[in-house]
Amino acid sequence: MKKLVVYYSLSESTRYIANSIAEATGADVIRIRPKNEIKREGIMKYIQGGRQVLRGEEPELEDFENDLSGYDMIFVGTPVWASSCAPAIKAFLRHVDFRGLEEGKMAFFACCGMSKGNAFEDMKNAISGSEMEIIGEKSFKEPVKGDVKKAKDAMDWAIEIINRIEVYM
Ligand SMILES: Cc1cc2nc3c(=O)[nH]c(=O)nc-3n(C[C@H](O)[C@H](O)[C@H](O)COP(=O)(O)O)c2cc1C
Repeated sequence: MKKLVVYYSLSESTRYIANSIAEATGADVIRIRPKNEIKREGIMKYIQGGRQVLRGEEPELEDFENDLSGYDMIFVGTPVWASSCAPAIKAFLRHVDFRGLEEGKMAFFACCGMSKGNAFEDMKNAISGSEMEIIGEKSFKEPVKGDVKKAKDAMDWAIEIINRIEVYM
């Protein structure tokens, strides 16, 4: 089974979880990067990032491998911004053509300070119209690098999903 982890991360928490999932499942990894990144430090990141979400902006993305045909399972990860997913992930979900993925499955994960808010609903809306089946969702509170317990939670969650699919393949 071909697996993929796609994620965006501003301050590396989502990256940590994404890499843990990839390590556990042998998935390929794509990191989504906006052409113009917001500030990484201080209060400005909240102002700039929050504004993007509230205005419904979708940043232009740096090039990435967007032919995802052949993948059976795609994990998509985002930080929670203003109770939603990060705009870069929304842009990714809206612009990739998932039609080549027959019986393609997806699971969403999110990293947050306090709560996942509407992140998963907003991700689902971004792929509405595609045939992708969402088979898992999980959020992680501030999983800073080195938080072995959260990495293990992520690995166990991803492995359980893969095992569940393999039963039906
Ligand atoms: C612009 C911005 C908005 C945020 N909004 C929320 C929020 O609404 N709810 C929440 O729980 N955390 C919020 N956070 C915190 C992040 O979701 C959290 O720190 C996350 O782990 C960051 O992931 P990253 O390191 O991969 O970028 C926000 C962070 C930023 C930068």
